[in-house]
This record gives sequence, C-alpha cells and structure tokens, in this order.
Amino acid sequence: MYQDLSITWGDGRGQVQNNGQLMTLSLDKASGSGFQSNNQFLYGRFDMQIKLVPGNSAGTVTTCYLKSDGSTWDEIDMEFLGNSTGEPYVLHTNIFSQGKGNREQQFYLWFDPRADFHTYSVLWNPSHIVISVDGTPIREYKNLEGAGVPYPKTQAMRLYGTLWDAEDWATRGGLVKTDWSKAPFTASFRNYNYRACVWSNGASSCPSSSSRGGSSWYNEKLSTAGQSRMKWVQQNYMIYNYCNDPKRFPQGLPLECTLSSKSS
Ligand SMILES: *[C@@H]1O[C@H](CO)[C@@H](O)[C@H](O)[C@H]1NC(C)=O
Repeated sequence: MYQDLSITWGDGRGQVQNNGQLMTLSLDKASGSGFQSNNQFLYGRFDMQIKLVPGNSAGTVTTCYLKSDGSTWDEIDMEFLGNSTGEPYVLHTNIFSQGKGNREQQFYLWFDPRADFHTYSVLWNPSHIVISVDGTPIREYKNLEGAGVPYPKTQAMRLYGTLWDAEDWATRGGLVKTDWSKAPFTASFRNYNYRACVWSNGASSCPSSSSRGGSSWYNEKLSTAGQSRMKWVQQNYMIYNYCNDPKRFPQGLPLECTLSSKSS
C-alpha cells in the first residue's frame, strides 16, 4: 500500500496501517478522505479488497475508481452507497468515455459488504471493460468502437479511493440523511493487486507475459461460465440499468444498448 498508493486528502483521516497491509479512510462532519495510485495506467486489471462502513452508513459513499485527467476524461466507477443499519448497500457503476457518462448500472450485492472484505475488480483491456465482485463479472462494456461507440483507449487513468458524504442523494435518493452522531465512519482497503501497463513520459509499458502474473488479462474475454454468472447477477441483483430507461433518452437509447444486450 505504501509503495503503490498515496493518501492525498483528508488531513489524517486516511491512514496506512499494519506495515502497509491495510488502508483506512474515514469521514466525519468536517471532511472525508482519499488516496490515489502513484502510477497512471493504460489498460490493466485492478483488484481491491474493501470492507465497507459498518452499521448505519446512510449518506456515505465509498468509492474505488479509475479516471484520467482533463475535460474529456475517461472513467470507470464503482461507488458504494451506504444505507441504514440492516438495509442493503448499492453498488453504483458508471463508465465515462471522452467526458461523457450517463451509463449507470446499479446492483445489490449477494452478501453483506460491511461484515467482511470482498474483492472488487476492474479489467480494462483493448476489447472490453469488466467489473467483477469476488471474481463474478457483474458488468461488461465492450469495445464497440467499430460501430461508433467511444471506447477509453488513449488516456491513461489513475486509481482512486475515497470516502465522502453525499447525504443529498446517496441513500434512498437523499431521503435518509447521515447520522453524524455515528461519526467517524470508516471503510477499509487491503490487498491492492494489479497487472497493468504503466504510463510514463507519454508511453505505456506493459508487463511481459512472464512477469506480474503474465499478461493474459490483456487478451482476456468473458468465458461462457463468466457470461452466465453475469447474467445471474443481472437478473437477480441489478436494480437500475440505463439501457432499460428510455425516458432518460428521448433521442433514443445510447448506441451500445441497442447494438448488443451483453455490451451494457
Ligand atoms: C437502502 O434501503 C432501501 C430500503 O430497503 C432500498 O430501497 C435502497 O435501495 C437501499 N440503498 C440505497 C443506497 O438507498
């Protein structure tokens, strides 16, 4: 954690502990906190184990995302929207390409993400982006550039993690506010693991297939088993999909929604 990530804000509310094995972020009424990766990447596979804010986490948002700089940025989001004690967290995902997002999909999880660490992963390679939870793919965004859908592939991204307050919208659309008497709220991160092409001085250098666990991720496609697991998640745990929300898109659904149901 010391080697690959730096705490960038929160004035002491973010801490590396246990000899670099654990990173905690906390939030109180004055501020949240956050970290970022020291490197930027152009393609990679990123795994992070996260244990979310326990108890009443309503109003809080814990994030782990990839983002490039500038005004036409690319971004791959995993945001965990807290909830009252006993009520389910929502995993909110989005994908921005060239500054444009509006590709939200939201999921409940099939376990209690406050009780234990679970592994949340992003695979980003030239053919697709896959978001997975404990190795189960929940969302795939295919490279459909040939058909005119913008795909993130020229801007290097950094990994970020944050814990912040969003009581205006996070829980039941803002109906449930943060209970500040329970502050500070704390989320924990560990076992950050990545295999990626590191960006430096305008060039990307990818690991050789023999180092860092090989570069099979670079060509990885969803297996048939992965596709059917993703279908299981989407049928049972998806609570919002922009592709099923034509009201939002009076000009017609985004192209990737109409090209392939699997690309969403
Ligand atoms: C919080 O719990 C309510 C009630 O079970 C649920 O409708 C909602 O989706 C949950 N999550 C968020 C982030 O509001």
